[in-house]
Amino acid sequence: MAQFTLPKNSTIGKGRHFPAADGAKRTRTFKIYRWNPDDGSNPRTDTYEVDLDRCGPMVLDALIKIKNEIDPTLTFRRSCREGICGSCAMNIDGTNTLACTRAIEDCGNGRDVVAIYPLPHMQVVKDLVPDLTHFYAQYASIRPWLRTQTAAPTRERLQSKQDRAKLDGLYECILCACCSTSCPSYWWNGERYLGPAILLQAYRWIVDSRDEDTGTRLDELEDPFKLYRCHTIMNCARTCPKGLNPAKAIAEIKQLMLARKA
Ligand code: SF4
Ligand code: SF4
Ligand code: FES
Repeated sequence: MAQFTLPKNSTIGKGRHFPAADGAKRTRTFKIYRWNPDDGSNPRTDTYEVDLDRCGPMVLDALIKIKNEIDPTLTFRRSCREGICGSCAMNIDGTNTLACTRAIEDCGNGRDVVAIYPLPHMQVVKDLVPDLTHFYAQYASIRPWLRTQTAAPTRERLQSKQDRAKLDGLYECILCACCSTSCPSYWWNGERYLGPAILLQAYRWIVDSRDEDTGTRLDELEDPFKLYRCHTIMNCARTCPKGLNPAKAIAEIKQLMLARKA
């Protein structure tokens, strides 16, 4: 049988290993995707052993410790470290989630090693940083702000408690992109399909009682690709770190489309 030989300059399987500091008693191993567009090398995974007795409890704590104390070249996004900004979204043990709200002790899928990759099916800028340019352009395309025709009131546009409650389960979305990058329809048609995150956001404005452009919003989604590529696979709802259900929002947009045709 012909044997496959890696080219001489291949770095596949040649990740670096960083052992825990001397004297560490309770350690956890993190295997992390690495790719630097500037060094001409293939992607690899580096392995870091982290002393848990000198580390905070979350995966983001471990990443920050690795960057500060072991390997300053490791690149990732983070800001709020409390599940609000969405910037630390990544794939941990095969699930898209937020590194700052994922406890190390819950990781590993029963194994000692915690595997960390960037959000799947996105271009990578470097290491754990995905390129979200297109995702943000899709968000901008739905014009996500209150669109009104009537004159502005002297103080504010009021909303009943019942109408405000219709935004629950929607306004909490932090645009982390965990759902869209777990959606097979978005993987294959992401150029044209808006994906679960952006459609949930679109629905958030469609059901806002203060918005006066609902018809146009629905018109703009009436497209075989933008909306109708959702096949109810439900990966989006399973992975959302905020416990939201984009598939339900998409189904409700489809219901509104049907209702106005009836
Ligand atoms: S719906 Fe959930 S997973 Fe999707 S972008 Fe919003 S917060 Fe993130
Ligand atoms: S339910 Fe729709 S949006 Fe959610 S993962 Fe499946 S296809 Fe994607
Ligand atoms: S750092 Fe903001 S959500 Fe994780």
